[in-house]
Amino acid sequence: MPEALLSARGVSVRFGGLTAVNGVDLDVHPGELVGIIGPNGAGKTTFFHTLSGVLKPTEGRLVVAGDDLTGRAPYVYAAHGVARTFQTPRVFRDMPAADNVRFALEFAGRLRRHAHDAFDDVETILGFLGLAEMAAVPAGALTPARQRLLEIGVALGARPRVLLLDEVAAGLTHTEVDATAQLIRRVRDELGVAVIWIEHAVRVLMNYVERVAVLHQGAKIADGDPRAVARAPEVIEAYLGEDGAPERIAA
Ligand SMILES: Nc1ncnc2c1ncn2[C@@H]1O[C@H](COP(=O)(O)OP(=O)(O)OP(=O)(O)O)[C@@H](O)[C@H]1O
Ligand SMILES: [Mg+2]
Repeated sequence: MPEALLSARGVSVRFGGLTAVNGVDLDVHPGELVGIIGPNGAGKTTFFHTLSGVLKPTEGRLVVAGDDLTGRAPYVYAAHGVARTFQTPRVFRDMPAADNVRFALEFAGRLRRHAHDAFDDVETILGFLGLAEMAAVPAGALTPARQRLLEIGVALGARPRVLLLDEVAAGLTHTEVDATAQLIRRVRDELGVAVIWIEHAVRVLMNYVERVAVLHQGAKIADGDPRAVARAPEVIEAYLGEDGAPERIAA
């Protein structure tokens, strides 16, 4: 195995008396596509916040591309090649789709001049996403599914080495979810960008990732091959009580 691109060691986050993330270790290597699942409130988003510098962990270390970035600001993570989307999309709604991507490219250009340049222009990124025809449309006027794609485009504009996706398929139709999942695969396959993907649509996610980590009450309870993880008794138990639980985790 090559050196990990991103390494979380014993990461905990406490909000007052609540431990939202509890001693989580995670290594992600270049070009890996890793899913993170877990019931509502398991700590998935909070853990992502620590991986991107949005939130400083109460305990533990974050190492990105060999550098210890624990406690550093989000732009330092971005400069090291970490890009992310948010559970609630954050695009500039009044700006055309193309300008959203252009803004990201220009901002990232200052941060990461020497990063891979396969995706150096707005047209290429919009074309990759299937949004070429939408270049002039204000982001807020795009369908929810296209806004999600645009958000991925904005993240790609930062020329990441690793892309963190927080429920980019939430609220989409079955067809849109599959299309989004295929796009995520292409990000990894065609751009060689590692992806860490949180999703509630567990069954879809399991079909597209090679590895999945499960969070439950802040702790990582499984990490490995999706089929093996879906059969693990502690994972099945964690999902009991969730709506449609056993079917949802069956790959
Ligand atoms: N800023 C905060 N202050 C206090 N508690 C918080 C804060 N952010 C999250 N929490 C709590 O931390 C726990 C983990 O929340 P988090 O949003 O990380 O879960 P999640 O796995 O992303 O859930 P979901 O599947 O609903 O998105 C929850 O109990 C949540 O209420
Ligand atoms: Mg969340």
